[in-house]
Amino acid sequence: MESNGLAHEVGDMCLEATDLWFAYEEGPSVLKGISLEIKVGDFVALIGQNGSGKTTLAKHFNGLLRPSRGRVLLYGEDNREHPVAHLARTVGYVFQNPDHQIFSATTREEIAFGPRNIGLEESEVQQRTEQALEYFDLTAYADHQPAILGFGLRRKVSIAAVYAMRTDVLILDEPTAGLDWKSTHELMQRIVALHRTGHTIILITHDMRLVAEYAPRCLVLRDGNILADDDTREIFRQADLLRETHIELPQICRLARRLEPFNPGRNILTVAEFLEGYGNLAERMR
Ligand SMILES: Nc1ncnc2c1ncn2[C@@H]1O[C@H](COP(=O)(O)OP(=O)(O)OP(=O)(O)O)[C@@H](O)[C@H]1O
Ligand SMILES: [Mg+2]
Repeated sequence: MESNGLAHEVGDMCLEATDLWFAYEEGPSVLKGISLEIKVGDFVALIGQNGSGKTTLAKHFNGLLRPSRGRVLLYGEDNREHPVAHLARTVGYVFQNPDHQIFSATTREEIAFGPRNIGLEESEVQQRTEQALEYFDLTAYADHQPAILGFGLRRKVSIAAVYAMRTDVLILDEPTAGLDWKSTHELMQRIVALHRTGHTIILITHDMRLVAEYAPRCLVLRDGNILADDDTREIFRQADLLRETHIELPQICRLARRLEPFNPGRNILTVAEFLEGYGNLAERMR
């Protein structure tokens, strides 16, 4: 079973921010009037330079932070009306820093905590916990204290713990930082599987290959504002916008751009698309 039984239909409004402003205590505004809509079943990448406000924005979606001004609606209801514990049943958030999330004595307990906390039956809790341990290659560490595992493993524990909850909305804050290629690939396959069953995915990352490969829509943050909100293919086409935000396209996109004279009109995002568009390039150049 891949989900809790989703409460909403794909295409319904999921998250809505209206003129959202936020400052940490007496500090300057970090979010400066953000408005956006995310629909049920979207797969959105949230990108932008360090300090642009990605994590701060994401924490508003599950109530970890509350707006200084403006509002955030989840399925039409103001987040302010619900405590974090309630919102966490619907919006799962994998912390950018796993150490801010991990607190249990063993990896198994850490993963079981969320499913148990949302009131699932014990047999379901155990089944999901063992499955998440297996999916994220953590079975050998099930009885270890997660806090003393290496960084990549701690990251995987934090992901597995949120994954096991199967929340309708899943926010992953730089989930692949520190993961090896195999772990990254396997994680993304799990995320894709959740997305296919109607879950809404918000992926925060500096890895533009992941964005190109997996996220059809992209939100670009700069200095607390949304600079662009569009199809990833459209955003990756805009050289000026990318330069302005110091975003570098994946190598395959840059190579394809250099080769555009041989295949005009193509706007390639992935290796698979490159092979489709330029597979017979050598022949054509002869
Ligand atoms: N707990 C905090 N207290 C005060 N200021 C903070 C706090 N967390 C973040 N900030 C500031 O808020 C701004 C936005 O930070 P945020 O962490 O949301 O950016 P980000 O886009 O997630 O960056 P990164 O790519 O480095 O994760 C930065 O100027 C940061 O220094
Ligand atoms: Mg961040």
